[in-house]
Amino acid sequence: MKPMVIAIDGPAASGKGTLARRLAVAFNLPYLDTGLLYRAVARRVLDHCADPTDAGAATEEARSLTRIDLDRADLRTSEVDRAASIVASLAPVRAALLDFQRGFAGTKGAVLDGRDIGTIVFPNADVKLFLTASVQERARRRYAERLAQGSQTTLEAVQADLEARDEADRTRNAAPMHPALDAHVLDTSTIDADHAFAAAAAIVNAAKKSLIR
Ligand code: CDP
Repeated sequence: MKPMVIAIDGPAASGKGTLARRLAVAFNLPYLDTGLLYRAVARRVLDHCADPTDAGAATEEARSLTRIDLDRADLRTSEVDRAASIVASLAPVRAALLDFQRGFAGTKGAVLDGRDIGTIVFPNADVKLFLTASVQERARRRYAERLAQGSQTTLEAVQADLEARDEADRTRNAAPMHPALDAHVLDTSTIDADHAFAAAAAIVNAAKKSLIR
């Protein structure tokens, strides 16, 4: 059977990562968090005191990215959130990261999460999911994560950052975030991670059956 590609897109803190990891384990597929690529580019730009809006500098960093950059512990700060969204709006940066994402699925298939997986990176993915949740619920989840990291922030600041980043990700010219026409939209505002997984796994199992037929 042809290996499966599962694309999971959606706004910040919608539960993509948790769901993607669980699906990867359940269906025995490699997992790639593509947001980490943009975060790592942003981290390198900031480390080199460059301006994230500088397309030349950011593209150079995207081309120089290594696996080690993806393992850094300082990719999930609010400073990196903002810079990642800026570098992600630059078409040459996105182009520099495309081959790696497509190659990742290789011969084994993959679960990938991000903003443009079902629309640009894998428009022919076997399963496309678009996760949403109310901004209040997403802010609550991200605030809890930030507190657990020891960060000093407020729920209001986290929500304002999420809203600004969602708006930028939705309205940019390069690969704007939106559900693919054939994506299954899952609203996780009132369901927990177990229910989201059960709903998604049912969709993947149905797609598997139609691949076998
Ligand atoms: O974890 P969270 O949902 O907050 O963000 P992320 O998935 O780590 O992505 C960080 C930023 O990278 C997003 O705000 C997007 O601007 C960008 N991104 C993107 O443009 N395309 C992707 N496929 C993944 C992330």
